[in-house]
Amino acid sequence: MSELHVPYQHRLSLPPGSSVTIEGKPTKCFSMNPQLQVDLHTGNDENSDIAFHFRVYFGDCVVMNSRDCAGWGFPVKSCEMPFENGKPFKLVISVLQNEYQVKVNDQYCYSFPHRVDPQYVEMMQVWRDVSLTSVCVCERDG
Ligand code: GAL
Repeated sequence: MSELHVPYQHRLSLPPGSSVTIEGKPTKCFSMNPQLQVDLHTGNDENSDIAFHFRVYFGDCVVMNSRDCAGWGFPVKSCEMPFENGKPFKLVISVLQNEYQVKVNDQYCYSFPHRVDPQYVEMMQVWRDVSLTSVCVCERDG
């Protein structure tokens, strides 16, 4: 399957009820500490504020946060680690009224309450040590 260029940037809007599905694979084995980062930006460039920062330290933990002109907010860390060494993953970020919910391989794993109204999200960047086979934005649930 052809791969998407990484860093992958995509303009989008993500109102409550929408979701984004990212399919990919870590490019290194977990002993080399690969990472995945997904950032939902409120502007069209990577220096803009981040409404939702989702950073996977494969084999270790996940850190979620937001960033504005004052810098990073309070990090939310989870030791839930459903990603498997050498295996493809499917990540779904669903936008609910009050929070983002993240599923990995169809299993609910993480949530992050909205600090910034998700209506302000304009661009997503997916990057670090992953190859991507598909990214799909779904306007509504179902
Ligand atoms: C920092 C890291 C940032 C971001 C932030 C999240 O340590 O340098 O890239 O991940 O944590 O809290």
